[in-house]
Amino acid sequence: MNDEQPRKKITLDLEFFGDPRPPAPGRVHLLPANVWLQLEPGESVFEAAKRSNIGIPTTCGGKGTCGLCRVLFPLPAREPTYVERQHIDRADLARGVRLACRSRPTHDLAITVLPEPRLGRK
Ligand code: FES
Repeated sequence: MNDEQPRKKITLDLEFFGDPRPPAPGRVHLLPANVWLQLEPGESVFEAAKRSNIGIPTTCGGKGTCGLCRVLFPLPAREPTYVERQHIDRADLARGVRLACRSRPTHDLAITVLPEPRLGRK
């Protein structure tokens, strides 16, 4: 008899866990809430917003699996991570859409929280 449990598929976003000593974080002007957030070292925009009681759409709690925490960066936006490329279509990536839970800005900038994407659209 085989007692092995079915294996779960895990997607690692290695680009998100690059530097063990993250660079000094920036401040984020979060729109449309119109709130400035000071990021802590290693903290994502999603975590900073949560700490400040600002709701960003999610069902995964910041693990990078739901793709709902979409935010709009000013252009030119940073390169998307592997996980972002899985959740955001090319047109949206090109216009600066990224995931708040994968974003750790190192300079001050304004980011707009986008509404939850419609079901069935990638
Ligand atoms: S919070 Fe789920 S992907 Fe970012």
